[in-house]
Parts: sequence; structure tokens; C-alpha cells
Amino acid sequence: MLRRLHPVQPDSFAFTPDNLAWAEAQMTKYPEGRQASAIIPLLWRAQEQEGWLTRAAIEGVADMLGMARIRALEVASFYFMFQLQPVGSVANIQICGTTSCMICGAEDLVSVCKEKIAEKPHQLSEDGKFSWEEVECLGSCANAPMAQIGKDYYEDLTAKRLGEIIDELAAGKVPVPGPQNGRYASEPLSGLTSLTEYDSGRTQYNASVQLATDIGDTVKRIDGTEVPLLTPWQKADENTETKAKPADEPRPSKGKPADKTGVTEQEAQEQEKARPKPASGGTPQAEAAEAGEKPATLDAARDGGPDDLKLIKGVGPKLEGMLHSMGFYHFDQIAAWTPQEVAWADQNLVGFKGRVSRDNWVDQARHLSEGGETEFSKRAKKDGMYDE
Ligand code: FES
Repeated sequence: MLRRLHPVQPDSFAFTPDNLAWAEAQMTKYPEGRQASAIIPLLWRAQEQEGWLTRAAIEGVADMLGMARIRALEVASFYFMFQLQPVGSVANIQICGTTSCMICGAEDLVSVCKEKIAEKPHQLSEDGKFSWEEVECLGSCANAPMAQIGKDYYEDLTAKRLGEIIDELAAGKVPVPGPQNGRYASEPLSGLTSLTEYDSGRTQYNASVQLATDIGDTVKRIDGTEVPLLTPWQKADENTETKAKPADEPRPSKGKPADKTGVTEQEAQEQEKARPKPASGGTPQAEAAEAGEKPATLDAARDGGPDDLKLIKGVGPKLEGMLHSMGFYHFDQIAAWTPQEVAWADQNLVGFKGRVSRDNWVDQARHLSEGGETEFSKRAKKDGMYDE
């Protein structure tokens, strides 16, 4: 199947503040110069936010990661988990059509989708609540036929049960995922025939269904506050805006002591949040740096044209355009920034807060302005990543 960008696209994309904080923290998980490794989680987060992956979202993520937009489009169009067209506002139903499921009745499930949702896959239902598609094996073949709805699997389905599930979702309910024929997991329907000692003391649901019901986000979109992204390598006093928030909702570690003091992870986060902190480290120097000073700008690039600022790690095409519009065209301009000017730039590159100091642009620009190379600029030139 051809996977192309949808013909109708919104003009712009921006992460919500929570999702932006999450995305920026996610990027710090990778070594310097390897931020493109965060492409899949960031695209996934953008899809969670918007419901599907718009061109603006794909390009916005590419710019954040300092990678060529075509590379991000290649990833988005390769993986079927990325939706390149609008999906139902309640759920996109993914029916497995591979061998086990096909033998066990996947075609009947597709018929239900055609009847209840829309004749064709990727088409929205009349009320806009649902869409459906056929997908390859989802790895739950022992519970065929099955469908993925939102983040969870509905297994051992019949046409009748899938119809009921769609009706329940339309009514605002979220049916319990997992086997729909009374099985606990993937044991024989008549019960265990071996290892029967494990038949007792079970939880109400199997582990994955239990987790799904505990978290309760089957068809709910992630808004950036659910599970905190722990990045202990980031300084505790670093821009508190970029830290993930503790969640109020149930999540796997809720109530479990995080260490031998008996304090839970949630309690520790609440205590940390409640602790008063100086706005900027408390020192006059830190406060001055936070206020920042605007660096000298140029009305236009000097003769010979602007330098390729994308050779600075962390600067993609979007950031380069932003820098030009602010009056920065040359490596030597950036190389001359004082700490106060770096602070100003960190605050004023909207959507890229903190990027200048995080990637140490001044040192990079100094090397490049002196005709030298950085590890990143060598690689960028070799890969041709920034030829436009
Ligand atoms: S064949 Fe359907 S889950 Fe594997």
C-alpha cells in the first residue's frame, strides 16, 4: 500500500507545553550529536497529540532534532503505526488480517468495520468518531482473530463482539481489553491442561489487561502528564519547565516505595515540587544571566552570503530561518556571544528554549568561524544531511 501525506494539511504544528517538555527531555537520552535517535518517540508523541501525523508535525519534529525533513518523512511513511491521514476521534480500529487471524475470522471483523464505520479503510465514519484499517500480524496469533484499538488488544473476537465493542466506545465506554471469550490469556478455552498449580491465585485479569485497566488510557490520547519521564542526568535546578509533571492518575509504580526510606516515587516528586527554590540559583551572576542581553544583530548577511548555520549541531532549517530573521547570519556573530547574550538567545528562540547553551553553540561557532570543523559538521557534510 502506498503511504503518502494526506492532501489536506493544517498550516502549522506545535507541541503543547507539556509535550514539548517531554520531547526535549526525551532528546537528552541520546549522546551528543545523536538526537535524531529520538525520532520515533517524538513522532509518536506528535501523533498522540494531533490524532495523526501531519506534514507540519513531521517537519517540526525533524527541525527539533536537527535532521533533514526527508529523513523524518521516510520514518513516518515506513511504519504503519504512524497514521498519515485523519483518524476517528474516538478510535482507529486496526484489524489483524494475517494468517492466524484470517483463518479464524478476520474477514468477518472487516465486514463489521465496513458496515459500522465506513466502506473503505482510512475513511472516517459519518460522525467522525471511528476509522479502521487492516494491519499485519500484531503478535497475538494465539488469540486470533484480534484487533488493536487505541493502545490495547481485543482478542478472541467474533463479529458480534466487535460490533458491541464499537457501540460501547461510541457511547463513551471503554470495554475491558484482552480475550473476549472468557479466556484469561492464551490457555485452552476449556482451562489449563498442564502447570495447573498456576491456576489459582490469579489476578482478575492477565498482566497486560490489568495494566491496561489500571492505566486506563486505551483510547485516551497522551497529553504529556501521565508517566513522568525520568532524566536524572538533567540538573535538578535546570529550567523547571522542562521537567515532567507527576501524574495524578494511576500508573505502574503508584504506591510502591521508590527506596528503602519507604517514600514512594510520587511522594518524592511532590516533596521536591513543594521545596522552595531560588528562581535562578540565587546569585547575582545567575540572575543577570537569566535576564540576558540581546546580542548585536545585522540587517542582512555580509557580502558572500550567510554561513551555513546548520553545521552547528542543534540548528536545523527552521532554527536557521529563525536566526536569520533575528539578524544572525554568521558563525563569528554567535562565537562572540557573552554568557548574558547566550541567556537572551536561550530565552528568545521560541520553541527551542535552552538550545544554545545545551548544545554549546558558542564553542561550535568559534571552531567553524576559524575555519575548523566539529565532529558534527564533519558528519553533516559527509552525509549531505543539510544540502537543500
Ligand atoms: S496473525 Fe493476527 S496477531 Fe498474528
